[in-house]
Amino acid sequence: MYNVRAEQEKDILEIRKVNDLAFGQENEANLIEAIRCSEYFVPGLSLVAETDAHEVIGHILFSVITIETKNGPIQSLALAPLAVKPEYQNQGIGSTLVKEGLKRCRELGHGPVVVLGHSEYYPKFGFIRASENGIKPPFEVSDENFMIYEVKPGALNNIEGTVFYPEAFTDV
Ligand SMILES: CC(C)(COP(=O)(O)OP(=O)(O)OC[C@H]1O[C@@H](n2cnc3c(N)ncnc32)[C@H](O)[C@@H]1OP(=O)(O)O)[C@@H](O)C(=O)NCCC(=O)NCCS
Repeated sequence: MYNVRAEQEKDILEIRKVNDLAFGQENEANLIEAIRCSEYFVPGLSLVAETDAHEVIGHILFSVITIETKNGPIQSLALAPLAVKPEYQNQGIGSTLVKEGLKRCRELGHGPVVVLGHSEYYPKFGFIRASENGIKPPFEVSDENFMIYEVKPGALNNIEGTVFYPEAFTDV
């Protein structure tokens, strides 16, 4: 059994461990740490999945990005990264983190959520290709991997723009 809660200071090293193990590299943990000390971090939108034995087994982060449109910037969120410890994968923990995360984004009144990720994973939660909404990535990426979820349905109708990521994302 596990529960999902907002990260606390005591989780910081465990979050690094989850990401290093899941991705097999340090880039994602470095990204999380860079965002945590930036203005783009949203307290309450860095979530951990923790077992009853207090082991952190999964983590998800949503942080602030912008969509640049011809009428000015629209504040948005990026879902990145999402990680589950390898021995706990395929048990629904990643899905629980995404669903609970999106619920909290909605409760906090946030706008759209952008993700660059597996094209077969995120549509289950309501993500669609960002291009369908006229939203472009700032770099070359396969269309099917760049997705968006409208926390408030319709909020992006008739809006076209390009996502702008903070510098912390450059090294990932
Ligand atoms: C992707 C990840 C977070 C999923 O977490 P999880 O707890 O294993 O996911 P769930 O148990 O909720 O869902 C499992 C489903 O995800 C699918 N899945 C897992 N990895 C996938 C991948 N790389 N591409 C597409 N689907 C994937 C599984 O096939 C399974 O599908 P099913 O439900 O149709 O059987 C986890 O595998 C992970 O940490 N991977 C390494 C890091 C990573 O790739 N992060 C995501 C970056 S976008």
